[in-house]
Amino acid sequence: MDFSYDREMRSIHTFGLLSRAEAYAVASSPADVLAAVDRFGAPPTLILGGGSNILPLDYIPGLVLHNKLEGISLDAEDDSHVWLSAGGGVNWHELVLSSLDHGYGGLENLALIPGSAGASPIQNIGAYGVELKDIFARLEAIELSSGETVVFEGLDCQFGYRDSIFKQAAKGKYFITRLVLRLTRSQHQLRTNYGAIAEQLTSMGLSAPDQASSRSVAEAVMHIRRSKLPDWNHLGNAGSFFKNPLVPLAKAQQLLTDHPGMPYYPQEGGLAKLAAAWLIDQCGWKGRREGAVGCYEKQALVLVNYGGATGREVMAFSEKITADVQERLGVALEREVNVVGRHEVS
Ligand code: FAD
Ligand code: EPU
Repeated sequence: MDFSYDREMRSIHTFGLLSRAEAYAVASSPADVLAAVDRFGAPPTLILGGGSNILPLDYIPGLVLHNKLEGISLDAEDDSHVWLSAGGGVNWHELVLSSLDHGYGGLENLALIPGSAGASPIQNIGAYGVELKDIFARLEAIELSSGETVVFEGLDCQFGYRDSIFKQAAKGKYFITRLVLRLTRSQHQLRTNYGAIAEQLTSMGLSAPDQASSRSVAEAVMHIRRSKLPDWNHLGNAGSFFKNPLVPLAKAQQLLTDHPGMPYYPQEGGLAKLAAAWLIDQCGWKGRREGAVGCYEKQALVLVNYGGATGREVMAFSEKITADVQERLGVALEREVNVVGRHEVS
């Protein structure tokens, strides 16, 4: 186990921000995780996966421990399902592709989400009408304070929209080493009624729902994603910067009076989910740029780094958006991205 010190972070996260970490190490096995904590003398400040949902500030004190636990295997199967297991460091999209290669169903709508299998439960990743919780079986994690291995089943994780116990009471306390998903072997329940999936399938010559397969749905999702979201290799970003806000239905109805075309999605408990992208767009931020930071021209919910930006600059830009949306539309935006580290005094 090697530590590197004063490690640059820019190349190991998708926002490409200028940042440094006090110490950095790679864990390739559960034993490495224990050894790193033992040798460093403290749990990691940041468990790093693909770095696609973090906003590092200038300096991250303590240890950044990079999850590189590999391996995909079949844990169990019955007549209708398989339990597919992945090491926490497995690339999420490679796991999706591997499941498609084996003819399994359940992951098609979650194609092309960046990052690692081990991070997928943290915010209960979701896209195109499917969330991780829909196919989640269990996970294994190391409790960092005791070194014990613990198993979390679905209910233990307290999954919600872009939320789980790992963003709340258990934040920073567990290193997720393994993920097990329950996927269908046949009679896949394809979900094609969300967003532009059906339209995209039609343009691929698959107009009837029974003509679609898991793979064609995944291809449709990949096509839509590529058309909307920036490639972080060229334009640094962390996907949606904010969550879609949940507001009382009465608030949504009030906004609809002035903005009849506003998209909104009624939820349980007298709530409505609003589209943060629409709110930001409505306030005129889409395509706006200040220095090296901007609001992406094709998707207002994505903040981008044009090159050389710092976390401080992104934070300042995002706070202007939050204040403006609050003032003009009376809606509070909450960050989705995880801020780590601290500003340095300049
Ligand atoms: P990281 O960014 O490395 O870490 C994120 C958080 O999880 C950090 O707090 C970290 O400490 C913690 N963490 C990571 N690994 C572990 C572990 N093994 N154990 C414990 N804690 C851990 N998200 C969606 O839900 N839906 C989307 O459609 C979507 N689209 C995106 C598109 C783009 C272009 C980008 C850049 C991001 C997108 N995201 C999306 C966000 C991101 O892909 C997910 O949140 C993803 O799960 C992050 O994985 P990661 O491995 O990169 O996590
Ligand atoms: N819209 C605008 N202006 C824009 C962009 C979108 O008005 O610039 C409107 C659209 O017309 C649409 C609505 O906003 O009516 C929603 O837009 P979109 O379908 O693009 O989805 P989103 O709500 O912005 C969410 C997730 C994405 C996920 C997609 C697809 C959140 C915070 N974001 O985005 O997840 O991929 O739906 O399911 O829930 C992520 O979490 O990082 C992420 C990319």
